[in-house]
Amino acid sequence: MAIILDGKKLKEKILGDLKSKISLMDKKPSLTVILVGNDPASLIYVNNKKRTAEEIGINSNIITYPSSVNEDELLNKIHALNKDENVNAILVQLPLPGHISKDKVINMIDPKKDVDGFTPYNFGKLFSGEEPFVYPCTPKGILLLLDEYNIEIDGKHVVIVGRSNIVGKPMAQMMLNRNATVTVCHSHTKNLADITKTADILISAVGENIIEEKMLKSGCVVVDVGIFKDAAGRTRGDVDFENVSKIASYISPVPGGVGPMTITSLMLNTVELFEK
Ligand code: GUN
Repeated sequence: MAIILDGKKLKEKILGDLKSKISLMDKKPSLTVILVGNDPASLIYVNNKKRTAEEIGINSNIITYPSSVNEDELLNKIHALNKDENVNAILVQLPLPGHISKDKVINMIDPKKDVDGFTPYNFGKLFSGEEPFVYPCTPKGILLLLDEYNIEIDGKHVVIVGRSNIVGKPMAQMMLNRNATVTVCHSHTKNLADITKTADILISAVGENIIEEKMLKSGCVVVDVGIFKDAAGRTRGDVDFENVSKIASYISPVPGGVGPMTITSLMLNTVELFEK
């Protein structure tokens, strides 16, 4: 049976340390989250971020807009937050409604306040092998989790399923930085199972239940980034946990694996931006 990569436990440990550190600060870090529309999943994520921030002493503020908001109004708000000395981290919850350009909105965030690491400046730094102000939260959380369990990355074949800007692309680069051999698969990949079978570490970030035991080699490390509700309303990940956990060496559960690590990274990034 695979060892569980327990993100919930590691989150408690890291955030406990961070809370002690923040308690010694005269001025507190602050995180501002912008939420557009009323996507139920986004609402849960955003409230979770605010609650966690407040639990550890970070000042947190959610600014909400109806999905009908005009793009210029949003851009003006970000401009004002960039100039506000009391705001040190800005997160615009994605996805945004179709009439708003995600790129324009993200480009507007001051890279020094870009807590997701999504601006072209920070992304460019990451991809050129330089230090961005902060690293994107989900890939950063995955590395923290793998490191906690002393899982070797150097020289390993890391197969990433999914090529999003939030997970797949930055994860690939961060794994290259750690000297992994990286393959990125996506919806147009032919013979996916032939590739996933060669993974030492498999990271799936698709949002569909696609990873089965027969697609993996025995002893591989499995990281499940997907989270969604199935037809019966149960929370599921990309991986068939019940069967894959019988052959993997390590596996992250859903919930309780990568999700808590993403929020942990967000808190770490908020404090890093504050200190910078
Ligand atoms: N939506 C889903 N994941 C994320 C994330 O990591 N950052 C932002 N801003 N939006 C998201």
